[in-house]
Amino acid sequence: MVDPSTVGEVVYTADDIKKRVKELGRQISEEYAGKEIILVCILKGSFAFTADLAREIDIPCSIEFMQVSSYSNSTQSSGSLKIIKDINVPVDGKHLIIIEDIIDTGITLNNLKKMFVTRNPASIKLCAFLDKPSRREAPIEADYVGYKVEDNFLVGYGLDYAQHFRNLPYIAILKEEYYKN
Ligand code: IMP
Ligand code: MG
Repeated sequence: MVDPSTVGEVVYTADDIKKRVKELGRQISEEYAGKEIILVCILKGSFAFTADLAREIDIPCSIEFMQVSSYSNSTQSSGSLKIIKDINVPVDGKHLIIIEDIIDTGITLNNLKKMFVTRNPASIKLCAFLDKPSRREAPIEADYVGYKVEDNFLVGYGLDYAQHFRNLPYIAILKEEYYKN
């Protein structure tokens, strides 16, 4: 098991996260007042954020789970999205908010949005707790962002390195020596 002391600088504490998630929940509740929304949690990374955000939303909402992987290497077109686990409800006429842990190249969210458009929802918005704008390759922006971050490899609050660290209650920079060895 990985020792959490191997992580580096904490960029957002559990208190920072709680405060920002509360603000996002309030904003979403206000903007969708009178409507019903579906939160689509993109596994695995956004499990923690989705669980916290959902509890800060005070309008009718349901929660669905999806797991995908995007091919971004040269042997696969960046337009392809592999659905590992799909949601199992129709979304036509519904208001969707797709929840991601982090938007990096943007390839995953760009592909997901295109795929959901074909299912005819009433609206789609994208919500990412973290955004690394300097890494963007696909033409996509999230509608709701927790924090914009520098180009460091981050772990915690759902974000992993090789499936570890998702359980950390804060977000930290993973030390380079950890993954370059
Ligand atoms: P994108 O398609 O490049 O935007 O990829 C987004 C996905 O890459 C996220 O859902 C994460 O799983 C992963 N990812 C990107 N940056 C980081 C990071 O700093 N730490 C952990 N996972 C990351
Ligand atoms: Mg992810």
